[in-house]
Amino acid sequence: MQNFVFYNPTKILFGRGTIPSIGAETAAFSRNVLLVYGQESIKKNGLYEIVTSSLKQAKISFVDHGGVQSNPTLSHVRQGIALVKEKNLGAVVAVGGGSVLDSAKAIGAGAVVAHDVWKFFTGKKSVKATLPVMTILTLAAAGSEMNSGMVLTNEETNEKFGFGHRLLYPKTSILDPEVTFTVPANYTAYGAIDAISHVLEFYMTTRDPDTPVQDRLMEGLILNSITSCDRCLKSPCDYNARANLMWTATLALNGLTAAGLGRVGFPMHMIEHSLSALYDVPHGAGLSVVIPGWLRWYSKKNPGRIASLGRHIFPETDKESLSEIDAADKTILFFQNWFQKTKSPTTLTELGIAKKEIPQIAQNSLRLARIWRLKNYSQQRVENILSLCL
Ligand code: NZQ
Ligand code: ZN
Repeated sequence: MQNFVFYNPTKILFGRGTIPSIGAETAAFSRNVLLVYGQESIKKNGLYEIVTSSLKQAKISFVDHGGVQSNPTLSHVRQGIALVKEKNLGAVVAVGGGSVLDSAKAIGAGAVVAHDVWKFFTGKKSVKATLPVMTILTLAAAGSEMNSGMVLTNEETNEKFGFGHRLLYPKTSILDPEVTFTVPANYTAYGAIDAISHVLEFYMTTRDPDTPVQDRLMEGLILNSITSCDRCLKSPCDYNARANLMWTATLALNGLTAAGLGRVGFPMHMIEHSLSALYDVPHGAGLSVVIPGWLRWYSKKNPGRIASLGRHIFPETDKESLSEIDAADKTILFFQNWFQKTKSPTTLTELGIAKKEIPQIAQNSLRLARIWRLKNYSQQRVENILSLCL
């Protein structure tokens, strides 16, 4: 067990009928806010009405800033920052998935500084203050509702970078599983795969050989991501299935799993972010391609860690007769087969990406590797991993 500080200040309101509390929760911080949301899902499922009437009831004026796209862009965040400064707004309310919540965090941080918000993402500036951010989550996936991270794509440089700071935690996040009933099958699966990867990244990169507390927690979150996603795909309006998936995805990246693991990395995300930046691949779809390849590469170095995961969550790998290597191979195959069962891509070829594009993807990902201090990831290593994703 390594030393750690566990700090998570986000207040969570979870369950049916919690969304109308957004007005009171926001009034505690400001009476004039920026309202950030995506393309049209919240208009189509009636959420926009519920949220805006709650804000009006709490006598909160709001400025609309819709149009956040999946894999959110720097230009749209810059427009939001300009609006906050021009109208002198005091808080940001986000209603959507991870793309919307991350945009809101970036706007909240960028609105209180004179320099460009992208400087936070390249490590040139650190966050000293932010506007309060309240969120209403509509898609179980990124975990942004209860963490201090944000991810943005700079379209001018084709870079998709992630940045974290303890001031970026949302003040309050409202999670009503019912609003996720309308999430289509593909994004339901992508969200579960994102949650699985958030846990796998830490499970596989910790160097501490003795972490049973964290391991059993992480194995349970991976298993829950799989079983609740299967239930949601079978019946999209199964409230408990949606609730289980939603809370699993939040717990998968709110700091709890990493506490005590010591230094961990996010290499699969480092590579996936380049697929999203260069080809606009949905984040979870990029991960369903990168995870099996990265595990096959890692299995050559540490089959035991993969075998141990398999033995704890996939019964057919828990056989004494299986060597560590065979158990590791079976575990990787289990993930790959499950991704395919959810109709998520598992090869670069399915994404329409050819072998000859691998060097450019690897080169793009090394810029983030430097910022995330993943020093042992060279051009050659990333190319080797990507060749296992073909
Ligand atoms: O734009 P709208 O119309 O709202 O449609 C969205 C979008 O097309 C749709 N959607 C969302 N809620 C819905 C819905 N459709 C029907 N019913 C609903 N209730 O789903 C599509 C995808 O939305 P998006 O927000 O892009 O998905 P997700 O939540 O997976 O977020 C992905 C972003 O999160 C970042 C990723 O990089 C990516 O940019 N991440 C953020 C992290 C963090 N802050 O800690 C960590 C993660 O690893 C991840 O990198
Ligand atoms: Zn992710």
